[in-house]
Amino acid sequence: MFKSGVDIRKLETLIEINARINSDYSDPGGLLQTILESATRLSEGEASSLLLLRPENNKLYFEIALGSKGPEVKKYSLNLGEGIAGWVAQNNRSLVVNDVDQDNRFLADISQQIGYPTHSILAVPMRIRDRCVGVIEMINKLGGKPFDEDDRQWLEIFATQAALAIQNARSFQRAQQEIVLLQDRVTNHQGFHSFICESAAMKERLEMIDRLARTDSSVLILGESGSGKELFAEQIHLRSNRSEKPFIRVNCAALPDALLESELFGHVKGAFTDAQSDRRGRFELADGGTIFLDEIGELPLALQAKMLRVLQSQTFERVGSSQPLRVDVRIIAATNRDIEQAVADGQFRRDLYYRLNVLPIYVPPLRERREDVPPLAQHFLIRFRRETNKSVTGFSSAAMEELLSYSWPGNVRELENAVERAVVVTGTEYIQPEDLALKSGGGLKEERYVGKTLKDSVNLFKKHFIRQTLEDQGWNQTAAARVLGIQRTYLSRLIKELEITR
Ligand SMILES: Nc1ncnc2c1ncn2[C@@H]1O[C@H](COP(=O)(O)OP(=O)(O)OP(=O)(O)O)[C@@H](O)[C@H]1O
Ligand SMILES: [Mg+2]
Repeated sequence: MFKSGVDIRKLETLIEINARINSDYSDPGGLLQTILESATRLSEGEASSLLLLRPENNKLYFEIALGSKGPEVKKYSLNLGEGIAGWVAQNNRSLVVNDVDQDNRFLADISQQIGYPTHSILAVPMRIRDRCVGVIEMINKLGGKPFDEDDRQWLEIFATQAALAIQNARSFQRAQQEIVLLQDRVTNHQGFHSFICESAAMKERLEMIDRLARTDSSVLILGESGSGKELFAEQIHLRSNRSEKPFIRVNCAALPDALLESELFGHVKGAFTDAQSDRRGRFELADGGTIFLDEIGELPLALQAKMLRVLQSQTFERVGSSQPLRVDVRIIAATNRDIEQAVADGQFRRDLYYRLNVLPIYVPPLRERREDVPPLAQHFLIRFRRETNKSVTGFSSAAMEELLSYSWPGNVRELENAVERAVVVTGTEYIQPEDLALKSGGGLKEERYVGKTLKDSVNLFKKHFIRQTLEDQGWNQTAAARVLGIQRTYLSRLIKELEITR
């Protein structure tokens, strides 16, 4: 097939790439980069690009561009049929042009604008199931030589490998999302939610509750509205050795006082006008398991005494009965009120507060753990995509930048609502900033992530994130290091390296 016999170097490279394609699905970007680098080296291209076709607008985007002007090339996109690459994508056929000035398909604009003289181009399609999904092109063969038939055949083989890598990555991503969905469905079946977290602050708290899995001490969860207190309570239960037993939720603010008492402790027939029969309360239902008392700060004073007794002796009576009942229940309470203030104001019993507060856990607001934003946003996107049946894949980098820089006064709940709205209104595959309709605010916006390498964006994010944490902690490095979950010495090194200034 090859006129000049098979080149061993090329064959070895192909085998190497093939092994990677079949073993590593987690880094498709890195793999494509390797494929293009090898292909460029072996076909002696001076520069090269890998373009992907976006089906939603039929445009070709430069995914990777090698060569001295690579970063500039990446700002451009091509319509189907436009330029050599556009022709290749439209016709799904390879093309060798050894003198671009003689070929009117060549688009001189880009080459002129970036100041990169182009003489010859070899461009081949990448195909998945015979459909063109992108183009690989080589620019200028080294030494002024022309690209030949051998070069074309080899590049087609590399393009096949690249397409395979893309196809693998896409099905892998789909499968992973499917797994999350199924997990979600299984846990939701029992009323539990998937708990998403990436930040050191949250992971640290989860580790702590793992260590306390066997204790039955009460837990008081504090945190702003929408920060995830209820989900955290679920995790405490699921990670405890009561996880096979019931998890019973009660919202202390949702019912009037009299009803709340009977809801919590049950009643006997005739205890009050509507009590037609005996009824078990939530504490009895929770026997052996966990009871979650949400908005405990709203518990009326009269019931606080009864609650204190349950905490002290695990006993209580149903309303209208004098027979004490005994239960084995772990209590988790939550509030977004300043409960110490309520104690000081005489609205909450001090002794009950101490009893509940054996193990206080503070769920930090979302703005103090921004690493949780991307996985949470993606999680909600997948959920609402399923509900709306829309084909939304992710967030554009500008939209993600907005999500990361926003201050989230309504915390995770607000993020959830923003993503839901965006999925409903968006008309593109990637959610755009305007779909999110966030109020202006936040502090991470001065510099843009767009057009930066991953490494630069990560450093930029680190810089903003650390600066934000320092700000939140009044520039106390010890406190900031604790929040960030790193050593103080490491923090001060990062401050220097990333040139973070007050
Ligand atoms: N870690 C998380 N992973 C997935 N979803 C989350 C997470 N944290 C919060 N949520 C979602 O955000 C919403 C708010 O969470 P939750 O009800 O637990 O907050 P809360 O602190 O109890 O709020 P409030 O004080 O208003 O009652 C819920 O819909 C929940 O599903
Ligand atoms: Mg709640």
